[in-house]
Amino acid sequence: MKNKQVLIDSLPEGKLVENNYKLVESEMPKASSEEIIVKTISFAITAGTRAGLQGSASYAGAPTTGIVMNCTGIGEIIESNDQDYTVGRNVLTQTGWQEYSVQKKESLTLLREGIDPSLYLGPLGINGLTAYFGLLEVGQPQAGETVMISAAAGSVGHMVGQIAKIKGCKVVGVCGSDEKCKKLTEDLGFNAAVNYKDANFRQNLKDATPDGVDVYFDNTGGMILGSALFRLNSGGRIACCGVVSQYDTSTPEPGPKGIPGLLVNKSIRMQGFLVFDYADKYDDATDNLLEWINSGQLKVLKDELDGLEKAPQGFVDLLAGGNIGTRIVNI
Ligand SMILES: NC(=O)c1ccc[n+]([C@@H]2O[C@H](COP(=O)([O-])OP(=O)(O)OC[C@H]3O[C@@H](n4cnc5c(N)ncnc54)[C@H](OP(=O)(O)O)[C@@H]3O)[C@@H](O)[C@H]2O)c1
Repeated sequence: MKNKQVLIDSLPEGKLVENNYKLVESEMPKASSEEIIVKTISFAITAGTRAGLQGSASYAGAPTTGIVMNCTGIGEIIESNDQDYTVGRNVLTQTGWQEYSVQKKESLTLLREGIDPSLYLGPLGINGLTAYFGLLEVGQPQAGETVMISAAAGSVGHMVGQIAKIKGCKVVGVCGSDEKCKKLTEDLGFNAAVNYKDANFRQNLKDATPDGVDVYFDNTGGMILGSALFRLNSGGRIACCGVVSQYDTSTPEPGPKGIPGLLVNKSIRMQGFLVFDYADKYDDATDNLLEWINSGQLKVLKDELDGLEKAPQGFVDLLAGGNIGTRIVNI
């Protein structure tokens, strides 16, 4: 038996292309008596891993080639000597873009039984927890306030908006197509959605936020952050989650004008965060997210591709806005 893997063959110069990756067949991994072999079921393709290839995600280390592309995935334990991590159990871990991986038990999260495992790639996984803590802990929205979100139809974004609705806020999404805007307002209950590619974006954003913005959940940085700064109310909060507008390039732009002046004048708090900052609260968050899913208050948008070989093009396409919700590759 062989292990199909997708390796980083070269680092992107400019935009990421499919040829930055190489599909290989390697020998099956061998595990020591302490290690566990996991067969990948599915994995998520997420925008943040592009920052890892750019070298701008310091927590991910220096980008390098010849290694398996990293990602979070779910898999089944197929070889283990550990009595808590038995063969047949499903786990969440850094599977990478490959069929089989060797893991230490410390890097495995056992999935709760009786739950659709794919939920762990969306709302119950890294992106759901990011939406949850970034909004609630960093943004601190109050009922009746207006919450604005960029990359709002993406994996993190569509969950942020729905959690804000659950908390009684008015929600305005910003995304890159009219089809996505429609999805947000008609299916997910956003109060308004604005297409940032529209020539009248700034005016449309103004019209969509008549009471200004109290919390801006920033997935993109760039021009959308610049526009949000002018809509924020006094005492507003900006939760800096990511900078996807500046990932797929070798020449990221400096931040928008108005910082720090606008922050000073309106007593705005701008705070970056990493989901890992809240690791000790994951269990409670998972309980809440699950309750909202089960009650129908949190709708889960999945965008699925079948086959490991689809991952490179699926990633290139995600960075160009091809996904709605969480992009998942099924092996
Ligand atoms: N802080 C943390 O701990 C943490 C953890 C996880 C993720 N994140 C961040 O969360 C953000 C969202 O990640 P995700 O995995 O959920 O990805 P995603 O939103 O599902 O996909 C990325 C989306 O970004 C949008 N986009 C691409 N280029 C853009 C541009 N130039 N300007 C504006 N939008 C652009 C595209 O949608 P459009 O059609 O709308 O353009 C695309 O669908 C990323 O910034 C990521 O780094 C942070």
